Amino acid sequence: MLAIPPLAALAVLLTSVRGLNNGVGRLPAMGYDTFNAFACNYNATSVLAQAEAMQRHGLIEAGYKTLILDDCYALRTRNASGYMVADPSKWPHGLPAFSKQVNKLGIKLAAYGDNGYETCAGYPGSYGRELQDLETWHSWGMSYLKYDNCYIPADNVTEENMFGRYQRMSNAIAEFAAKRGQDPFLFSLCEWGWEQPWIWGKQISQAWRIDGDIKPYWSAIAAIIDQVSFQYWSSDFYGHNDMDILEVGNTGQGSPPGNLTYEETKSHFTAWALMKSPLIIGTDLTNATNQTFEILGNKDLITINQDPNVGHSISPFRWGINPDFVSNSTHPAEYWSGNSSYGVVFMILNSQDTDATMFFNLTESWAIRAGRQYSVYDMWQHKTTGMAVRNLTFSLPAHGVAALLLKDAGPEPEYLDGSCGFYYQCSWPNGTYISN
Ligand SMILES: *[C@@H]1O[C@H](CO)[C@@H](O)[C@H](O)[C@H]1NC(C)=O
Ligand SMILES: *[C@@H]1O[C@H](CO)[C@@H](O)[C@H](O)[C@H]1NC(C)=O
Ligand SMILES: *[C@@H]1O[C@H](CO)[C@@H](O)[C@H](O)[C@H]1NC(C)=O
Ligand SMILES: *[C@@H]1O[C@H](CO)[C@@H](O)[C@H](O)[C@H]1NC(C)=O
Ligand SMILES: *[C@@H]1O[C@H](CO)[C@@H](O)[C@H](O)[C@H]1NC(C)=O
Ligand SMILES: *[C@@H]1O[C@H](CO)[C@@H](O)[C@H](O)[C@H]1NC(C)=O
Ligand SMILES: *[C@@H]1O[C@H](CO)[C@@H](O)[C@H](O)[C@H]1NC(C)=O
Ligand SMILES: *[C@@H]1O[C@H](CO)[C@@H](O)[C@H](O)[C@H]1NC(C)=O
Ligand SMILES: *[C@@H]1O[C@H](CO)[C@@H](O)[C@H](O)[C@H]1NC(C)=O
Ligand SMILES: *[C@@H]1O[C@H](CO)[C@@H](O)[C@H](O)[C@H]1NC(C)=O
Ligand SMILES: *[C@@H]1O[C@H](CO)[C@@H](O)[C@H](O)[C@H]1NC(C)=O
Repeated sequence: MLAIPPLAALAVLLTSVRGLNNGVGRLPAMGYDTFNAFACNYNATSVLAQAEAMQRHGLIEAGYKTLILDDCYALRTRNASGYMVADPSKWPHGLPAFSKQVNKLGIKLAAYGDNGYETCAGYPGSYGRELQDLETWHSWGMSYLKYDNCYIPADNVTEENMFGRYQRMSNAIAEFAAKRGQDPFLFSLCEWGWEQPWIWGKQISQAWRIDGDIKPYWSAIAAIIDQVSFQYWSSDFYGHNDMDILEVGNTGQGSPPGNLTYEETKSHFTAWALMKSPLIIGTDLTNATNQTFEILGNKDLITINQDPNVGHSISPFRWGINPDFVSNSTHPAEYWSGNSSYGVVFMILNSQDTDATMFFNLTESWAIRAGRQYSVYDMWQHKTTGMAVRNLTFSLPAHGVAALLLKDAGPEPEYLDGSCGFYYQCSWPNGTYISN
């Protein structure tokens, strides 16, 4: 027989699974990261140009307010007192001054660091220097840390697993915040999904990468969506699956140059937004097309991503091409839904290389109320396109997406028979089955 835990033990159990709520990172982060567009090839001039383009095109106003300096901002060696030094050839006026410059636009700088001896590109790593580096980042006006996993110390040095190694920085962040009497750094893990961070990440951080580095090709986007179809349950307030920096805009450019079509790029952004991933821009905005700004600035999708009342990701209700619960990185789940403050959200994805007709019954989604009809708002056309009664049918181009918001519009019309979505066991009050 199962022992019933005493109330106190139960309370401890519940706190530990609820995750890290230290006041920061309740909603997915929104911002910019230098890596996908520039790798190591950036400096004060080019980064400021990104911040200015963000302002010019309304992206800061849309919510993108964090600017992560990814790998390569420092000198390769620490100074004689062990502090990291900002590379003066990249930041001729220093990082504190640069930080103030972007603050004026409404943006905050954020840090990249590494949980080992060196960063992935060979700059100083923070293992064993956690508090010292937090002090440095703080002095540069940063309060957000993306923490990588290169050049990690051997097991006989750390005597720690992945979780314990990342907990070192999480503890240092808490200690630094307590000492300074200020908000903790937002902690974003980047251990590439090696050890199921979707299970434990929320105990020590606000976001965790679920996979290796994204690439600007459809095969990479589809594979990440496939992965989330098994891990969507992990994202909620204060903790998010990080699907990686966006590749929106990196068609024909970026590092490496990509080849996503317009339809694929819309599908990419829709999935990231509705699955409550951080939305981090990764393209050179000084060379971006109107379509890129249209996609990154999609207010309807950002509103769902930043929903103050519903923290959960959408989830699949039917896989489509393959049987349900089958992992297939070229044909991930196609039929997804979830709740929001604004209505029931649907993401329908055509994973095929050709146009396809998509069909679903409303009651396949848990979030729909049977016996009701819904108005259909299209989050790419930004308008109400019609009514949904029992089901929806439409066609989608290759790798295209529909992002729909269904709003309750009262009981369904009376001319319809009152059967059940799940007709098996559907009965009249007198105990006779209704067959349909
Ligand atoms: C190293 O950098 C820190 C932080 O900028 C500074 O306070 C310290 O004086 C520097 N030490 C040396 C030896 O330059
Ligand atoms: C930044 O790099 C560009 C070329 O990539 C160069 O023209 C510019 O002078 C550099 N700015 C600084 C501050 O180093
Ligand atoms: C850890 O193991 C390595 C490789 O076997 C060895 O060279 C090193 O001395 C060990 N370090 C410690 C601290 O035991
Ligand atoms: C600007 O974008 C176009 C395609 O969108 C690309 O061909 C070109 O190489 C880009 N230029 C730079 C400097 O990235
Ligand atoms: C996109 O680029 C990748 C990497 O080069 C390549 O494997 C893929 O076939 C390309 N896709 C298309 C549709 O050209
Ligand atoms: C892009 O948008 C701007 C501002 O709305 C407009 O002036 C310009 O003509 C557009 N460019 C293209 C290529 O459509
Ligand atoms: C993915 O699905 C397609 C279509 O059903 C199938 O042809 C392919 O073999 C599947 N791939 C894997 C790895 O199962
Ligand atoms: C959806 O979320 C809203 C806002 O929190 C809530 O009022 C509503 O009850 C939820 N609907 C379902 C089906 O959970
Ligand atoms: C949709 O509903 C109809 C009518 O109840 C039913 O025959 C059909 O099997 C359902 N299709 C799916 C995919 O649920
Ligand atoms: C879809 O719903 C309509 C009612 O709006 C119904 O007449 C039709 O039979 C349904 N189609 C399918 C395939 O279930
Ligand atoms: C039960 O009620 C239904 C609907 O009113 C009716 O069609 C059916 O004949 C009734 N069955 C019996 C056994 O009375």
